[in-house]
Amino acid sequence: MRILIIGCGSIGSVLAKAVHDMPEVDKLYVTDMSADYARHLVDSLEKAEYVSGKSEQLCKTLTEVDLAVEAASQEAAARYVPFVLENGVDVMVMSVGAFTDDQFRERCFTLAKKHRSRIYVPSGAICGTDGLRAAASAGISEVHLTTRKGPKGLRGAPGLAMRGIDVDSLTEATVVFEGSARDATVQFPKNLNVAATISLLGVGFEQTRVTIICDPAAERNSHTLTVKGDFGELRSETQNVPSPINPATSYLAALSAIAAIRRILGNVWIGV
Ligand SMILES: NC(=O)c1ccc[n+]([C@@H]2O[C@H](COP(=O)([O-])OP(=O)(O)OC[C@H]3O[C@@H](n4cnc5c(N)ncnc54)[C@H](O)[C@@H]3O)[C@@H](O)[C@H]2O)c1
Repeated sequence: MRILIIGCGSIGSVLAKAVHDMPEVDKLYVTDMSADYARHLVDSLEKAEYVSGKSEQLCKTLTEVDLAVEAASQEAAARYVPFVLENGVDVMVMSVGAFTDDQFRERCFTLAKKHRSRIYVPSGAICGTDGLRAAASAGISEVHLTTRKGPKGLRGAPGLAMRGIDVDSLTEATVVFEGSARDATVQFPKNLNVAATISLLGVGFEQTRVTIICDPAAERNSHTLTVKGDFGELRSETQNVPSPINPATSYLAALSAIAAIRRILGNVWIGV
């Protein structure tokens, strides 16, 4: 398999190193808006080659790859995901918050059908998506996500500025957002990808409810998912170690991308 990784930050660099060591992966292409980041990564990986983000070079690269992984930003997802799909290549999307935009999501899903390419969205930084996926085969009455992060994991989010909240001045755990998953992913675009993932799996962006807590004492990024439905009730709690490169991102997100690639490469599928 030949893989293109778009974005060489906390997820992309961990993923690149892991797939580089997979014997099934013959070649790895990497790109980043910072050519320095990408080149630095390539230098340490024998099978890897740097490609610029220019359309012509990417087009050429897409004729050679089986899978592209977006691990950059919602802007990058908006730019690259349709482009990859139009070229008939499968794409893994980490900036899943981009799919909050109904028109964009429909466009991508339609392109995937038309060009017979697949869109993969790994479970990312949250556990319990297997149960939610299975539960959605019958009725679901409630999906609620509570996310708790320290100030570093939320700093800079537009949703904080909208409410006049300075996370660095908080002295105790404070609810900084309560509302729909749609508003959460729009107002916290770099912090609440998991809200988009569970919305896509369960009851959609309006009905999925989200509470975000900023806790100055939190050393981990935690997500508590509760689901009620015909199947019964589910409660999962994930206590995530933040990435040392990007405290808004949890290490588990990169691990889920690695696991997803292993699943794509393998022929045994365990767990929904
Ligand atoms: N699905 C999940 O559960 C989950 C969890 C954590 C993060 N994420 C998302 O995954 C994405 C990557 O996260 P990260 O922690 O690795 O981010 P990061 O900031 O550590 O790295 C992103 C990299 O992408 C590059 N980049 C950004 N925009 C680009 C563009 N338009 N074109 C090319 N390169 C671009 C940056 O230069 C940077 O090197 C983010 O959008 C993040 O919100 C998803």
